[in-house]
Amino acid sequence: MERTLSIVKPDGVKKNVIGEVIKRFEQKGLRIAGLRMLHLSRQDAENFYVVHKERPFYGSLTGFMSEGPVVVMVIEGDGAIAKVREIMGATNFKDAAPGTIRADFATDIERNVVHGSDSEKSAAYEIPFFFSSLELH
Ligand code: RTP
Ligand code: MG
Repeated sequence: MERTLSIVKPDGVKKNVIGEVIKRFEQKGLRIAGLRMLHLSRQDAENFYVVHKERPFYGSLTGFMSEGPVVVMVIEGDGAIAKVREIMGATNFKDAAPGTIRADFATDIERNVVHGSDSEKSAAYEIPFFFSSLELH
């Protein structure tokens, strides 16, 4: 059983697709092990996406991620990391496969509705960033 972290980004919350995102994960047999809504500060977003510190889009990304509330969740299941990434679709919605969350709802390479840990190593950083063991069920 594998766990991964997903986020409905501020654009997804504004577009009213929190339920739609959760439904797509659940329909693929994944389980929600933890869930919370919060508003990241700029500093929180910078810490969360610290792997992208040197990227040209770091400033814009962390501004976007702190512009409004997000929903953070831990998703559990067999191969959860890869499954969530598959359900999300490619980073750029223009490259995202039909029927993926980003193909259906993203409007911009940055404003792409959803985040998912990209590896076991990322999940091991990102899950405890938001959740204590007592908050995972
Ligand atoms: P995420 O981490 O949010 O799940 O997205 P990802 O793995 O598909 O993409 P990643 O390369 O990790 O980039 C993180 C987020 O930064 C924004 N981005 N903007 N302007 C750009 O060229 C650009 N590239 C990436 C997106 O919001 C992307 O999801
Ligand atoms: Mg990523």
